[in-house]
Amino acid sequence: ERKKSENVVWHAGKIKKEDRERFLGQKGVILWFTGLSGSGKSTIAHELEERLLKMGKLSYVLDGDNIRHGLNGDLGFSPEDREENIRRIGEVAKLFADLGIITMTAFISPYKKDRQRVRELVKDGEFIEIYVKCPIDELKIRDPKGMYEKAIKGEIKNFTGISAPYEEPENPELILNTDLESIDESVEKVIEYLRNKDII
Ligand code: PPS
Repeated sequence: ERKKSENVVWHAGKIKKEDRERFLGQKGVILWFTGLSGSGKSTIAHELEERLLKMGKLSYVLDGDNIRHGLNGDLGFSPEDREENIRRIGEVAKLFADLGIITMTAFISPYKKDRQRVRELVKDGEFIEIYVKCPIDELKIRDPKGMYEKAIKGEIKNFTGISAPYEEPENPELILNTDLESIDESVEKVIEYLRNKDII
């Protein structure tokens, strides 16, 4: 077993979240996108990231590419693994938000209790739940990766919306109806929210 360092004194950081936020000219928050596979979470988050950068605001998207292939590469899609997926993402998002960054997460996050647990990690107003809503029938038609077709045939088990549950948010800060509005309209709605709350 590795020896623990001796004589190491813990230094509390001198610089606080507020100091970093003043430096960046923005607030560190979590924009938690939740919704079914293919609803548009990732697309909207990445568009928003670009828009914000053009406005001089720093943001970052946590999604499957950097999380499920890396940090959470050991996790599958059982309820327990999804819970652990969201728990770890929540902790990482909290660290990013503490940096003062507008942190976006784009995961199905199907369980209410898991999302609620992340909300409780940060201060009031710092967890912004965004329900990316699209009817399942529309998603079955879109089906860009053919995942729904496979799920319906039973070739993918426990697929959210088909053979695994999705618990809709009850009181999300925002709802984006991606079957009715364009990506640009959805992005604009989020920017408006951020402005109204003095986050940017
Ligand atoms: S979760 O529920 O929040 O832990 O899921 P997430 O990390 O967002 O991963 C969802 C993406 O993984 C693909 N995939 C599945 N989704 C749901 N259920 C099952 N069984 C499953 N197996 C693989 C799915 O295509 C999601 O990709 P996106 O990009 O969201 O469409």
